Amino acid sequence: MIKVVILIGGPMKGTRFRPLSLELPKPLFPIGGYPVVYHHIEACKKIPDLKEIILIGFYQSSESLSKFIQNAQQEFNIPIRYLQEFQPLGTAGGIYHFRDQIAMGDPEAFLVLNADIIGDYPLTDFVEFHRKHSGEHSILATEANKKQAHNFGCLVQDPETHKVLHYVEKPETFVSEIINCGIYIFSPAALFKLMGEIIQENYQKMSEEPFPGNVESVRMGEDVLATLASAGSLYAFKSSSFWSSIKNAGSAIYANRNVLAMYHKTHPDLLAQSGKGQPHIRGDVYIHPSAVVHPSAVLGPNVSVGSNVVIGAGARVRETILLDGAELKDHCCILYSIIGWNCSIGMWSRVEGSRCDPNPNEEFARPDGESLFGEDGKLTPSITILGRNVTIPGEVIVLNSIVLPHKDLGQSYKNEIIL
Ligand code: GDD
Ligand code: GTP
Repeated sequence: MIKVVILIGGPMKGTRFRPLSLELPKPLFPIGGYPVVYHHIEACKKIPDLKEIILIGFYQSSESLSKFIQNAQQEFNIPIRYLQEFQPLGTAGGIYHFRDQIAMGDPEAFLVLNADIIGDYPLTDFVEFHRKHSGEHSILATEANKKQAHNFGCLVQDPETHKVLHYVEKPETFVSEIINCGIYIFSPAALFKLMGEIIQENYQKMSEEPFPGNVESVRMGEDVLATLASAGSLYAFKSSSFWSSIKNAGSAIYANRNVLAMYHKTHPDLLAQSGKGQPHIRGDVYIHPSAVVHPSAVLGPNVSVGSNVVIGAGARVRETILLDGAELKDHCCILYSIIGWNCSIGMWSRVEGSRCDPNPNEEFARPDGESLFGEDGKLTPSITILGRNVTIPGEVIVLNSIVLPHKDLGQSYKNEIIL
């Protein structure tokens, strides 16, 4: 029997996702019309012999999170629980803190997934791979280019046995192009023993000198994976299917495009089609059944339209996520943007961002998780983001800007954060 743990983190993280993460836990942000974690649960549901999914994080339990869990339990017919850390325990501390809950029922292994990733995870094959090294631990890996690999955990493996010989979390100098996808399978008894030793060592250090941070905080990369690699008990399963981390809102547009592309294989019924009396659809578009779109509007490619969105005559939308309740008035044009919940865009206005995809000419390029500002202190051109309930009047242009919630803009803006 197998269990799944999804690390959803908490409100301290997600600064690069503002202002959207002010409103909603980042793991509930919709990609392809469904919350990021919904895609994780759907992928895990395919694992044979799955007993339970546990979300671990330090968000206060909220209505949106409870409702999401309740709906997902019903839809996928699998027990799902949220366990809240009393304070951030790092990327692995929560797993140890809730070890009794994870070990309950004696699972042979448990799978751990970071919440801020998306992909076409080969989880069933990964579980098969793990079973060949039972009692040990497995990590899902993929390839990045040399320039970007240092933004991830990097590993060196024996090409024959796939044993991980060396693991470094976000190395300063080049270690390897094989990176950690943030998905692992652990053997419970062996992992909890190791984590117990790490925490014991922290207590020891604390008695000798002031200990920085929380003694029960454990880091997945630096503390757990690096130790498992040096002990020779970690094995890497390399995947070449689509995988991306979702660090900032710009990478959400890239993720949205890839999830919509995956729907051709997994959910063709979710992709909108042009037809008589229907809007004109170009490429991949998801439209929530409750949205009302004028037949003369042109949508796509790579657009997700949330619930109760209203799109007027002649509007043009591409490479964009429209969140629930947004209203696009006639002839407005939205490109490379995320339009927040209940925003209103006036007639003939234009909201436009800059494409910030990985370089298509570089193999294995990944979206940059860089901060909002460049070295010159200026806002890096990126997608335009409107927070909840922003009103844009008619006939203005908002370009490469981030607008905080509840703003009523009276004019055009370019390359600005509007507070
Ligand atoms: N429960 C809990 N408690 N979860 C946490 C905490 C915590 O204190 N801190 C972070 N997390 C969750 C985050 O929500 C996220 O899902 C996951 O743990 C990873 O945390 P990050 O701190 O965002 O790590 P990262 O994304 O920079 O790097 C990790 O992921 C990369 C792949 O995306 C590392 O594992 C890298 O090696 C890896 O390449
Ligand atoms: P491809 O055929 O995909 O090469 O592109 P296109 O030339 O049709 O333009 P694109 O798909 O890049 O999207 C821009 C579309 O939006 C164009 O068809 C423009 O006519 C239209 N557009 C640009 N600005 C506005 C605007 O302010 N309002 C409206 N309603 N449409 C606009």
